Amino acid sequence: MDVVFSAVDALNVEVDLLAVGITGDGAADLSRTLGTFGQDIANYLKDRKFEAKGGASLLVPTFGRAKAKQLVIVGLGDRGTNDRTLAGAKVGAIARGEKATTAALAFGALDGATARDVLELVPVGNYAYDPYLPEAQKRPALNTLTVLDNGEGAAIAGAAIAAGVRAAWQQKARDLVNAPPADVYPESLAAEARKLESIPHVTVEVWDIKRCEAEGLVGIVAVGQGSARPGVLIRVSYRPPNAKDHVALVGKGVTFDSGGLSLKPTDGMLTMRCDMGGAATALAATGAIAQLGLAVAVDTFLPCVENMPSGTSYKLGDILRYKNGVTVEVQNTDAEGRLILADALILASEVPGVSRVVDLATLTGAILVALGPDYTGLFTKDQGLADELTGAYAAANEAVWRLPLVDAYNRLIKGTWGQLKNTGGRNGGSITAGLFLGHFVKKDTRWAHLDIAGSAFYDGQVDPYVKGATGQSVRTLVNWVEKLGA
Ligand code: BES
Ligand code: MN
Ligand code: ZN
Repeated sequence: MDVVFSAVDALNVEVDLLAVGITGDGAADLSRTLGTFGQDIANYLKDRKFEAKGGASLLVPTFGRAKAKQLVIVGLGDRGTNDRTLAGAKVGAIARGEKATTAALAFGALDGATARDVLELVPVGNYAYDPYLPEAQKRPALNTLTVLDNGEGAAIAGAAIAAGVRAAWQQKARDLVNAPPADVYPESLAAEARKLESIPHVTVEVWDIKRCEAEGLVGIVAVGQGSARPGVLIRVSYRPPNAKDHVALVGKGVTFDSGGLSLKPTDGMLTMRCDMGGAATALAATGAIAQLGLAVAVDTFLPCVENMPSGTSYKLGDILRYKNGVTVEVQNTDAEGRLILADALILASEVPGVSRVVDLATLTGAILVALGPDYTGLFTKDQGLADELTGAYAAANEAVWRLPLVDAYNRLIKGTWGQLKNTGGRNGGSITAGLFLGHFVKKDTRWAHLDIAGSAFYDGQVDPYVKGATGQSVRTLVNWVEKLGA
């Protein structure tokens, strides 16, 4: 989506959809923007008892009094809240519904920070995944957004470019997650990762399954061995010359989670193409960080496998011996995410100079039980890192809630035949999964785990997202890194 700034009068802008933002009763905003026609609309809104709450909207006929084909009035809500960004997302969603490919935004003058938020959320609201829909059912994406009313257009042009990069990568994450598992498998993710090499200072290394075996990545080897699709370990390194800090990201890349021999029932398996959401999120964030040229080195590790039942599957009772010496009994082949993340966390915490490691994973159904679908679960013992990440989520208007890593619950994952077992029972399931991961991070490494099993993929439509992949946490990670490099 291209963003252009224009001083054209709102009544004269030739677009498919003109969106006029209003506050309060809207009368003043509407007459300033649309003159006498605005007064008529204000009366109409009054009759309809329209309230200018953030994201509220109403399509209004133009009666030929505006050059735009369609007119929508959008509530901007209160300043200093995320109401304006919700309004932006709403415009994106309405544009999609109305098959608008060009839209204009008359939201009044926007400061740089608000402009970036709004301009990020328009494409987020506009998103749809439709490559497999019949032509007649496809609705085109918005390709040009004209921002009106902005004397400061030049000043916020930079914000618009950054917003575009961030939104495009969020969309990439959503496309990768929504795509069917026949199209997305470990080697196809490796091909996606290799595309990042066109960005300056980015290198990509892919370890095929033979190399994973040779390197002792026992989790990737075991979980992937039941599938006809070989697993891979992907590493993306972004090393800008002016780096002020250095972080590592790890993302769970289970391209389909059938549960393996501990097979999931159909209902539980139906959405399990989402199980590479952590890898998609980490990859997209890395792409955005590199494309924005942020001054932080990033090493991103993506363990990718397909978890399938077959004659070659790993089995219950198998014991894995990890590179760091920890041994793990397999009690349930459906608790596979932690087994492959363990390999990647060992690698990530060995990278010289890395100050913080953050992993993202659609790790547990239990996080949905605890927090519902909207919230990402944050696990870390590092208060400073918790504060950084919580702040980054808030700045992206994404929901996060911290849960405790209760040391005593290590008793629940203590093994009988090995040091650990890969399940800890139903109670505190997200916490025991987090504790498990902690055994593969070096003691002195600052580390946080993000359980995105709920927030990465919605089973129904929840504003500003459509059903399916949300791409949440991409903009959050970019915010976090941006601050580290500032
Ligand atoms: N990929 C699932 C977790 C998941 C559930 C993601 C729902 C998104 C939506 C994970 O691999 C899994 O199967 N976890 C098990 C763990 C259990 C066997 C200890 C679970 O949550 O039931
Ligand atoms: Mn599983
Ligand atoms: Zn899984």
